[in-house]
Amino acid sequence: MSKIGIFVGTVYGNSLAVAETAQEILEQQGHEVVVFDEPTLSDWQLYNSGNEIALIVTSSTGQGDIPDTIAPLYSEIKDVVGYQPDLRYGIIALGDSSYESFCGAGIRFDELLAEQSATRIGDILFIDAIEVDVPEEFAKPWVEAWAELL
Ligand SMILES: Cc1cc2nc3c(=O)[nH]c(=O)nc-3n(C[C@H](O)[C@H](O)[C@H](O)COP(=O)(O)O)c2cc1C
Repeated sequence: MSKIGIFVGTVYGNSLAVAETAQEILEQQGHEVVVFDEPTLSDWQLYNSGNEIALIVTSSTGQGDIPDTIAPLYSEIKDVVGYQPDLRYGIIALGDSSYESFCGAGIRFDELLAEQSATRIGDILFIDAIEVDVPEEFAKPWVEAWAELL
């Protein structure tokens, strides 16, 4: 059993729906899960010591930009945290492939954490709004497979 924090970046609520579905699945498997819809640095720091896991679920806005709900956290991780070799994390990136910077926010998050020597668990799940009507349904098999890697 792991302690998992789910950190949500959303504009219209799709990422929050995905996060809540992931929470249900992971809790059914016995994990202790908290969803942060406006995550702060102190929330983040509860999950980066190596015994816990962070799951980032974020859409993209603007031109591959990070939604306001999670942008302050992204900046603080970049400017204040700096190095977090003990962190283990996963990423679910929502986007729309008609935009030039498809899933840019999720990719930027992943690049930042990789630069900080954190370890990603599994591949990024990309959810393309052009192809997927119900993102939380689409995410279910990925979450189940991801949980096997924890
Ligand atoms: C104004 C606007 C800008 C967007 N920019 C991007 C983008 O740059 N890259 C991308 O992949 N998706 C982009 N999207 C698509 C959203 O990320 C996608 O619809 C996502 O499912 C929204 O999830 P949310 O409800 O959690 O915000 C944009 C959508 C809107 C309305």
